[in-house]
Amino acid sequence: MGSYMNEDLERARSWLQAAGSVAVLTGAGISAESGVPTFRDADGLWRSFRFEELATPEAFERDPKLVWEWYNFRRERIAKAQPNPGHMALVELETRKSEFTLITQNVDGLHELAGSKNLLKLHGDIWLVRCTKCGAGWIDRRPSLPEIPPHCLCGALARPGVVWFGEPLPKRVIDEATRAVKSSEILLVIGTSAVVYPAAGLIPLAKAHGRTVIEINPDETPCSDMADCSLHGPAGEILPRLVGSDSHRPKESDARSGARMKTFAEISAPEIKTMAAWLRSKLQGRANPLVLSRLSDEELVRRYLRGKEEGINHGRRKEEER
Ligand code: OAD
Repeated sequence: MGSYMNEDLERARSWLQAAGSVAVLTGAGISAESGVPTFRDADGLWRSFRFEELATPEAFERDPKLVWEWYNFRRERIAKAQPNPGHMALVELETRKSEFTLITQNVDGLHELAGSKNLLKLHGDIWLVRCTKCGAGWIDRRPSLPEIPPHCLCGALARPGVVWFGEPLPKRVIDEATRAVKSSEILLVIGTSAVVYPAAGLIPLAKAHGRTVIEINPDETPCSDMADCSLHGPAGEILPRLVGSDSHRPKESDARSGARMKTFAEISAPEIKTMAAWLRSKLQGRANPLVLSRLSDEELVRRYLRGKEEGINHGRRKEEER
């Protein structure tokens, strides 16, 4: 696993700030810090499962129930996940750019949940169920489908609304992704092993059009050689720094020096979402997950600010007493 230099981060940050148009390609790595397993890492899904048996049209034809069991297993896992600060930083980046396209290989829906708008899903959506005969599609967000394989109202078998190995990507989606990559000044490549085509082909395409490529990934990938800058580390840590979306976070040093923190009313709605995602990731394993899941983003941030304010006032009283 590599690391990155602060100068590289600063260089990439200045390119990103100056660019009017940005395209982003994400892979499973961006959701890793939300607890969604990747495919090819040491603990990745394709290390324990064979994609030929679970993620091809032939596998579905052979044993639709087994394939649905696999999707139920993944849906249950994903249903528990929340967007992390990496997803949230991309939401903030989108609000700052006149042209922004987020191209994802992920089917987990975490980009939408975070609030990303101009999103192209190359490999479909795990929450979409599609009829194998009449083509009808519907969203079913139950973590686990009780009756598998499910059927369409027309009576035919239904399948997960994702793209399997050996299937073409939806034409409109890959065409739009290609156009966005060609026309954007920067391509940010985040959390992908860059080995699955046609998605991985968007990276050399950007280079062929003279675009700047910035990669974020803890490991070296085939993209690293092509990238103008590779930031080797976790997306949930690097992206907020790259985008500057962590600047609203009250810093410990501010608290110590008595600098004034923003009040709840001064924080914008996207900032509240970013801050709540950051707090949730910090509190994972430390706070009761049930209580945490019941707290709205607003309430979580309010409580955090209240706690910080009390801490600062307590510190000030102690100083005055001395
Ligand atoms: P992979 O599992 O192939 O790669 C995940 C990448 O994320 C690796 O390069 C990791 O080093 C990196 N990574 C891990 N943790 C990270 C973190 N915290 N921050 C940033 N990066 C991190 O997943 P994809 O490249 O998305 O396709 O795989 C592409 C496609 O292959 C998937 O969409 C899926 C799969 O089979 C289909 O199902 C059609």
